[in-house]
Amino acid sequence: MADVSTSYLGMKLKNPLIAGSSPLTATLDGLKRCEDAGVSAVVLKSIFEEQIEMESESAVDESDSYLAHADAYGFMKGASIERQFDAYLTLLEDAKKTLDIPVIASINCRQNGSWIEYAKRFVACGADAIELNHYVVAADIETEGHTIEKEYFSLVKNARKQLDLPISLKMGSSFSSLANMLRRFDELSINGVVLFNRFYSPDIDIDNLKLIPAQMISSKDEYAQSLRWTALMSEEVRYDICAATGIHSGSTVIKQLLAGAKAVQLCSVLLKQGLKSVKTMEKELSDWMDKHEYSSISDFNGKLAQERMEDPSKWERVQYMKSILEAQKG
Ligand SMILES: Cc1cc2nc3c(=O)[nH]c(=O)nc-3n(C[C@H](O)[C@H](O)[C@H](O)COP(=O)(O)O)c2cc1C
Repeated sequence: MADVSTSYLGMKLKNPLIAGSSPLTATLDGLKRCEDAGVSAVVLKSIFEEQIEMESESAVDESDSYLAHADAYGFMKGASIERQFDAYLTLLEDAKKTLDIPVIASINCRQNGSWIEYAKRFVACGADAIELNHYVVAADIETEGHTIEKEYFSLVKNARKQLDLPISLKMGSSFSSLANMLRRFDELSINGVVLFNRFYSPDIDIDNLKLIPAQMISSKDEYAQSLRWTALMSEEVRYDICAATGIHSGSTVIKQLLAGAKAVQLCSVLLKQGLKSVKTMEKELSDWMDKHEYSSISDFNGKLAQERMEDPSKWERVQYMKSILEAQKG
């Protein structure tokens, strides 16, 4: 039978299926169930820096821009901030004691915030790695693109300087020169990048003329953006790329591995189809490897990355001209 193990952030993983940060990874019970279901690592639900700094629940206004994340809400209700942070550290410690798989802590941070001091405590609690979950809604008309990019570099630089453990960055895709940015992270000795996070978006209820949350759970067709950028960058950087968003089946996992991802993160599929989907996806991967006579993931990892393609321009194509012409002919 095929060996489906991989390595990510310097850790040996028994398979490429990681439980991404979500309500499922917010409790010890959820984490244990993820491990029992067969994931190879877990990313704890993020602790939000604003949450740490917030004095009390009364200070929270749901219209605040930081609530751009689906799960920020979960953290806002509760007692004092210190207590929430202590609870997070306890969860991390308990997870380390209870689970055999790697535990990755996650912090939603701001460039110059106090998050680094908190992150240092994750190291002390034995986190195997830390995932920096950073996003900026670039909605300020005065802020230029390079200012936002600099914010990301400064954040990673600061983390690298002060934290002695593997670091990954989970980010969105909305940058004017994403390839350049992703390559520059390499110079900062980051260990991994997660492509991409999926953010909370508002929608409009046309009957009541008010804002409502858009779909929180991804669909199985949302992986294309992540697949393209994984394929474009996996041979251009030394750090590991972990693919995320819209990964709902074993075939999508295989595609991401062919594009060069070292691992994938699962969230919506676990929430929607349940934890049994982990074994189904692992089996689909190992059956496919057997069928193609691949004994290990390294036999095919990155085989369809842009750098290794005969016609690398295929990953950069964005227009539908050819398909339109073919449809017209047919
Ligand atoms: C309810 C919910 C809560 C989430 N909370 C977090 C979080 O705290 N930190 C984080 O980095 N991502 C969080 N995410 C994003 C997921 O980890 C994941 O990146 C995203 O949903 C895309 O993957 P998917 O298509 O497999 O769902 C959350 C997603 C959902 C649906």
